[in-house]
This record gives sequence, C-alpha cells and structure tokens, in this order.
Amino acid sequence: MNTIPKIDIVPSPTPLEYLAGVSEDLGVHFYIKREDMTGLGVGGNKLRKLQYLLADAKAQGATMLLTVGGAQTNHGRLTAAVAAKYGMKCAIVSEDVYPGEISSNILLDRIMGADVVLNHSAEDKKPLEEMVQLTIERYEAAGEKVYYIPMGGSNAIGAMGYVDVAKETTDQALAMGLESGTFVTTVGSLGTYTGLFAGLREIGAPFALKGVTIAPFDPPVREAAAGLFRSLKDFAGLSQEDPSEEDFDIETDYDFGAYNNPVGDVRKAIYYMGRREGIILDPCYTGKTFLAICKMVHDEVIAPGSNVIFFHTGGVPGIHGPVHRKEFERELRSGITLL
Ligand SMILES: Cc1ncc(COP(=O)(O)O)c(C=O)c1O
Repeated sequence: MNTIPKIDIVPSPTPLEYLAGVSEDLGVHFYIKREDMTGLGVGGNKLRKLQYLLADAKAQGATMLLTVGGAQTNHGRLTAAVAAKYGMKCAIVSEDVYPGEISSNILLDRIMGADVVLNHSAEDKKPLEEMVQLTIERYEAAGEKVYYIPMGGSNAIGAMGYVDVAKETTDQALAMGLESGTFVTTVGSLGTYTGLFAGLREIGAPFALKGVTIAPFDPPVREAAAGLFRSLKDFAGLSQEDPSEEDFDIETDYDFGAYNNPVGDVRKAIYYMGRREGIILDPCYTGKTFLAICKMVHDEVIAPGSNVIFFHTGGVPGIHGPVHRKEFERELRSGITLL
C-alpha cells in the first residue's frame, strides 16, 4: 500500500469503455480508458500527477505553482486548474513565442487566473532556464513561495499518479472479464508511460504496455524511460528488478517528425473516432496515438482479435489552437450549409 501523500482531485475510477464500432472495424476488442474525464479544468492525464505534486507543494508551504511547457501545454492548463481550486497562484512559462491570439489552452489558463509567460519574438528568444529564473525571482520578490513542477509533471512524484492508474485499470479490465491485452498510451514527457510500466509490474498484471511517441526524442526514448523508472523506483521504494531498455515497448514511427504539427492522417483518425463513437481526440497526442494503433492493428504488430486498451489522456482544447483550427476549418467547411 502506497503511503506517499496525495490530495484526491480526480473522481476515480474513470470509465473503461468498450467501443463496439471501432472493435468491429479494426477486428480487435477495443477499450478506451477515459483519462480525459478526470474532471477539473476540462480534464486530462496531468491531474493524476498533480494529485501527488500538489500534496508535496502544500507540505513545503508553497503558495504558488510554476510549470513549463509548450505555449499550448495541457499540463499547464491543469496546473492552473489545480492552483485555482486549492487557493494558489500559478504561472506557466514557455520558450515559445506568443501565437498571435488568446485561444485554446492559453485562453483557459487565463480564464482560471494563471499568468502565462512567453517569448516576445523568435529573433530575440530567451532560453527557458533564464525565463524560469526571472519569473521565480519576480514572484518571490512579491512574497510568493514558488513550487517548481517540471515539464509535464513527469518526475518521480508525478509519475506516482500513473502507478495508481495501472492498478485501477487492471482491476476494471479484470472485472470486465479481460484476461490479457495491451494497454496503449501516448508518450510525451514519459510520466504516464513510466508510471503505468512500474505499476503494472508491481502488481504482476497480465497486460502488456505499449507507448507511442508523438515527437522525436533526445536522448533516445528508452534511455529516458529507464532514467525516470530508476528515480521512481527509488522514490516509491519499489522492489522491482531493473528492466533492460528493450523492456520499454515504445513505438517511435508515428511522431510525424515534430511536436504538435498538423497532420492530415491524424485529422482523418480524429474524424473517424468522432463519427464512429462520438469521442473527440486531439491532434497533438491522442490523435497520433490512435492512428498508430490503427496502423499497428493493420500490420498485425497488435494481434487481430486481441484486447486493446487505449488511454485517452485528454488534450482536446488543442483542437482550437490556430495551427490546427485552420486545417480543420479548411477540411470541414463543405459541411456547412447556408440557407
Ligand atoms: C493530452 C496529453 N496526452 C498525453 C500526454 C503525454 O503524457 P506524458 O507527458 O506523461 O508522457 C500529454 C502531455 O505531454 C498530454 O497533454
């Protein structure tokens, strides 16, 4: 039983649903774990990590949460939501340049009262470390005690959230009569994947785990996963054998060369899921991962007839960011009838 302090934010368990239409089309038994339905701030996977990070921040007497990420970071939005609910200030610092409008996650961040710090121009960009330092100094001078949360909340403390979800999902799947199958999740900053990896091993679950990267990695993703696993193991006092890097089953063929880039095939996967099941995926994370699943089933990398448990990790506000919205508008305009 884990005794690491945690503040309950997420109404759990989140649903594990069987998708009959996708199952019929793909020829597998397709389940979706609704980690987009975690509640606060329109939900998403980062709230699981923030349950532990918030408890640590409060224990240290922090008055403010400060985190980093892309300008449209989902993790930043959920940090803003948690700060709002628990009476703390919040700042989200990004090396990115102001995208020219207040939309998508930046809009939600501001609605929830978080300050957003961006570079003012591409020509004269300040590095992230300098931006973070300047921002911390500014708030400390105003009397705040700042708690720094790394990118994606993906340190050992945050990854604990997905150690819990490994057990939660396994219990649900077993109760639904599943005896085997593959959990598939997106890999961004690795906390979700590594927490699930450690959690599944801890309970000897009969399910495999596959990650799908959505951007190129440096250092190589398995090396990064092994590093985070080791710090999680030490932090949580897990008595597991160290895995070899090959034990981290992570697909790197579906990142389409960049983070958060608009990709026609990813949008097609989003349209398919929306029209078949009424579930909205996002273009940066879950859309890429679902497309990867479709391709892996087609190529029999995932066995026909097997159970697939896809983690919907949230991110839907990303649809409204200018880069993606313009492509959606262009493709979907033909279905608008003006009478
Ligand atoms: C919607 C969404 N899905 C998946 C991920 C990936 O999770 P992680 O950063 O824990 O790898 C993120 C964040 O990076 C996200 O915002």
